[in-house]
Amino acid sequence: MTMKAILVTGGAGFIGSNFIRHVFEKTRFAGKIVNLDKLTYAGNPGNLADIGEKYGNRYVFVKGDICDQRAVLALMRKHRVARVVNFAAESHVDRSIFGPKDFIETNIHGTFSLLEAARRYWLDDPERSGNSPSRGSRPALRFHHVSTDEVYGSLGKTGKFRETTPYDPRSPYSASKASSDHLVRAYYHTYGLPVTISNCSNNYGPYHFPEKLIPLAILNAVEGKPIPVYGDGLQVRDWLYVEDHCAAIWCIMEGGRPGRTYNVGGNCEMKNLDVVRGICAGLENLFPAAENPALRGRKYADLITFVKDRPGHDRRYAIDFSRIKRELGWRPSVDFKSGLHKTAAWYLDNPKWVKSVKTGRYRRWLGKNYSR
Ligand code: NAD
Ligand code: TYD
Repeated sequence: MTMKAILVTGGAGFIGSNFIRHVFEKTRFAGKIVNLDKLTYAGNPGNLADIGEKYGNRYVFVKGDICDQRAVLALMRKHRVARVVNFAAESHVDRSIFGPKDFIETNIHGTFSLLEAARRYWLDDPERSGNSPSRGSRPALRFHHVSTDEVYGSLGKTGKFRETTPYDPRSPYSASKASSDHLVRAYYHTYGLPVTISNCSNNYGPYHFPEKLIPLAILNAVEGKPIPVYGDGLQVRDWLYVEDHCAAIWCIMEGGRPGRTYNVGGNCEMKNLDVVRGICAGLENLFPAAENPALRGRKYADLITFVKDRPGHDRRYAIDFSRIKRELGWRPSVDFKSGLHKTAAWYLDNPKWVKSVKTGRYRRWLGKNYSR
């Protein structure tokens, strides 16, 4: 990719920070990344401290809100942005049940503001308008929107979500993401803005905020605390290692067709109960419970605790990712066992990061999951 600058929104969060790291470290991209992030409880600039040091002025962090259309437009103009990739969102289903307002604000209004800024910036583009002496100096804009498989609702025992599956969101989170997807598509059909969308299944990996199942279970287990399993624990999610997701997004940004949606999944359907059992088994290898004073003679699996179910809890998600495989040659590369091992090892190897999200401004956001 020869373009000069990518605007990444929400790049201080879990997937966004992994994506920025991926682009710098694993692709041939030689330009600049501007990371616009509001730094909500889920945003942690420390996720990219090393990237800032290593890549100097090729990495620019800007604290800001995607709802601030004027500031976003100014940023696009200042850095002559050629690609926008929107990760910025409120992302936790439980939290959307407690308080949907922030989800409506960022996921719907924020995506709208970002689209409007992109459209105005794109209309300025000399390559499109042909009326500037600097014609050709700014590459045409592309806008990629990162979304979720949760927009499709819940599956029965069989079948998978395809790009043509009708939307049927059930939680305030998934409804707000569905709404944002519709807006992105509307900007393609109405204004011709060159957009792409990806709908991805559950991610896991380093830098995941410990409100979500996998990092919460790992850290609770290591600390000898209960590992909460909602309801009967037989709900199914299709897990994808975060680096595979980042590679998929990059593929779409490089070769995806404007107006097109791509489903991204891990080919890894797992019941929640099996996920937490897998975490417990994996930890026995990495940090045997017998050597962990917090366990006081118990096994990790003894900590698994069934708790009240989440209201509207979707039963099963599974992704058919044949389109991105066929058209762009992407497929997941990390199997669940090794992905889980890498993830648990990362949390054990990074006590400073863990401490940083468990203290200070992050602390009050923990322990607010639905069951507690
Ligand atoms: P996250 O909660 O870890 O990070 C979200 C980031 O967005 C944070 O850094 C936060 O500070 C920032 N942000 C929030 N509101 C903002 C605003 N108004 N302006 C600017 N920045 C703002 O989320 P994540 O898990 O990294 O998810 C990233 C995207 O991927 C989201 O759009 C989410 O819907 C989607 N997604 C996530 C998963 C998953 O399993 N985590 C799966 C599929 C899709
Ligand atoms: P989560 O990580 O919150 O992601 P999402 O709701 O976006 O799928 O939850 C993954 C699954 O794990 C979901 O079925 C809810 C369940 N879950 C628990 O059983 N216990 C928990 O403490 C959490 C956070 C989630």
